[in-house]
Amino acid sequence: MTPLNSKQSLAHDIGEDSNPTNNTEFQTIINRRMNRRSVLKGGTGLTAAAFFGALPLVGCSDDDNSSITNDSNPAVPASGDLARPNALNFTAVAHSTAPEMSVAAGYKAEIILPLGTPLISGIDDWKDNREQSGESFEHRMGDNHDGMWFFGKSGNGYAAKSSDNGLLVMNHEYVNSSELSPFGYKVIEDKDAAPIFQQQRLASDVRREVNCHGVAVVELKRRADGKGYEMVKDSKFNRRLTSSSEAQLTGPVAGSDWVKTKYDPTGTKTRGINNNCGAGLSPWGTYLTTEENFLGVFGRGLDAAKLSTAENYGRARYGATEGFAGWGYLWHTPPAKDAIFMDEFSRWDMTAVGATALDDYRNVFNTFGYITEIDPFDPNAMPQKRTALGRFAHENCAYAPVEEGKPVVFYMGDDSRGEYIYKFVSKALWSNSDIGGGLRAGDKYMNDGTLYVAVFNEDGSGEWKPLLQGQNGLDSTNAELPFNSQADVLVFARAAADVLGATKMDRPEWVSVSPITGEVYVTLTNNKYRGVRDDHPVDGANPRSYEVNGKKRGNDNGHIIRWRQTNGDHTAMTFEWDIYLFAAPSDLTAENLSGLSASNDLSSPDGLYFDPRGVLWIETDDGAYTDTTSCMLLAALPGKVSDGEIKTTSAGQQTRVGMQANDNNIKRFFVGPEGCEVTGITMTPDFKTLFINIQHPGNTWGAVAGGSTPRSATVMITREDGDVILAESF
Ligand code: FEO
Ligand code: CA
Ligand code: CA
Repeated sequence: MTPLNSKQSLAHDIGEDSNPTNNTEFQTIINRRMNRRSVLKGGTGLTAAAFFGALPLVGCSDDDNSSITNDSNPAVPASGDLARPNALNFTAVAHSTAPEMSVAAGYKAEIILPLGTPLISGIDDWKDNREQSGESFEHRMGDNHDGMWFFGKSGNGYAAKSSDNGLLVMNHEYVNSSELSPFGYKVIEDKDAAPIFQQQRLASDVRREVNCHGVAVVELKRRADGKGYEMVKDSKFNRRLTSSSEAQLTGPVAGSDWVKTKYDPTGTKTRGINNNCGAGLSPWGTYLTTEENFLGVFGRGLDAAKLSTAENYGRARYGATEGFAGWGYLWHTPPAKDAIFMDEFSRWDMTAVGATALDDYRNVFNTFGYITEIDPFDPNAMPQKRTALGRFAHENCAYAPVEEGKPVVFYMGDDSRGEYIYKFVSKALWSNSDIGGGLRAGDKYMNDGTLYVAVFNEDGSGEWKPLLQGQNGLDSTNAELPFNSQADVLVFARAAADVLGATKMDRPEWVSVSPITGEVYVTLTNNKYRGVRDDHPVDGANPRSYEVNGKKRGNDNGHIIRWRQTNGDHTAMTFEWDIYLFAAPSDLTAENLSGLSASNDLSSPDGLYFDPRGVLWIETDDGAYTDTTSCMLLAALPGKVSDGEIKTTSAGQQTRVGMQANDNNIKRFFVGPEGCEVTGITMTPDFKTLFINIQHPGNTWGAVAGGSTPRSATVMITREDGDVILAESF
């Protein structure tokens, strides 16, 4: 296990691995030998080529036998000020391992809102001695800034097109413990204690870490020179939500036995939002945060004998096996006498110690792992955990373009090795009148609907399987974990998806939907087990496994998959997929299936964002190519599903590869400082300011003036001439 005092903190680097199924496709591969010639034929798709302007699309067959191309239903491209640029009009940023960040010539990148920044007057700035209290983080920027969104603001309300003033809402995903405490990462050993208490943390350190997680809401106003933004200190909207903030449980799991605790015997509330990773926007203008690696902050003692088979199986399926002490946070370990509110530390201990679930926190683990909705314009409202969208290691949440009178559809990934891709289809039908409707609109669209999981077939087709109790084996007859209610299905969505034969993916990270094609893109960041362990065999959608320097590394560099819903209908139960891009060092020839060069090669794609013009921004969280270059941000102008060809990987697996990369369709725009991850991304509605986040930088990047401790922060990117980012008037 990565020690907590290492540079890369825990929550991020430890990929959880608790999928016991053989859901990958040994049998499917045999059963569905694809007739690839019938799937993809040669020729130039003139209709599509015209539609994409200068992009050299190939391979879009107009043959009636093709099961892929459907140019009869093209999406309507954005136009006018919203038009996608025809070219990537900047010079690629070179590889870099420098302590500083680098951005494309003609652009300016500034550090704002670093760790510890006070959001109110009356508290000290953060200092390099780190002695500021944990409580003070209820009013400071937290650590490891991640997903975020800029909400245009007019008066006191949401104004989607407003750029002069806005609320920047962002996640603080986890903590770099050793750089947060004045004591470093301090653990007190007690060999006589019960196993999960043999290493104990200080109360003050745990309190600081708990409050460094969560979400920040920060009001920004445009600077006097018209370029970029500054914080509105003391704004009534400035707010921190932390892993101590009370949150509401909504949807089918709320009130069920699975979430009743000593804190709330009704099972409708919990304390804390946690490990908030990627972000999303709702169509009505609220912020959707996620709960990803929540496993790592809990401890579980020896209690299997007190629990049912289902409880034991369900916990293990989410990584919480008996005796699990967490990932080094050990928030459950400070002495109870040091608590300043009820069960401040024991609430992180899921051990069944009491007579019933109402006497302890055995169920608290089940109150985390949800898409959580926050209304940034209502500073008093509680975060709403939307349980209908399932419980798993949520990376982010992207909605499909909404249409009046049709359901609202959200796509989501579960970021662990061999986990799944999901979508949620609302029962309620969309009405434009709900824009600005806040959490009431969330209640309408996110509390009732159907969750589905994806199956990627070898022949390029795909299917969605519903996670509905009583259907397809999701019932009381399921041996390991009987599904007696929809709450059972949603709390243990992973186990339900196992039963449905979902496809085990190479760590699904961010999802984004192209506003031009309506196609859905998902980063699959890497998977060291792919093709290495028997339960992670290569398949069409996860087709690479290779050695690097003589070591089996599985899919070391990751890829980006995409699909088109049948007839462009996001409620459809079927889709067509290909691999938009294989990440690889450009000189790793056998794995460089997308034809990357030194100006656009990358490894471990993670953050992903289609801006409203249809430019795709790709961010990396890499450990495989960092001797050559630090993590980065690239801009891309993708084509569409089936614009490439069939290839065979070095692992002998056939797959469907998108159009080859070139300087016109993908280019490196920014390289972060050494040691960092580049993540989180949002733009102002006028496209003149781009915000990204830097996690765990090395060296002294982001340090306080005169200090030496690096800090996570937001980077604000503007054009030196103040114009629209990537606009062609350069
Ligand atoms: Fe928090 Fe999977 O990234
Ligand atoms: Ca991520
Ligand atoms: Ca990652």
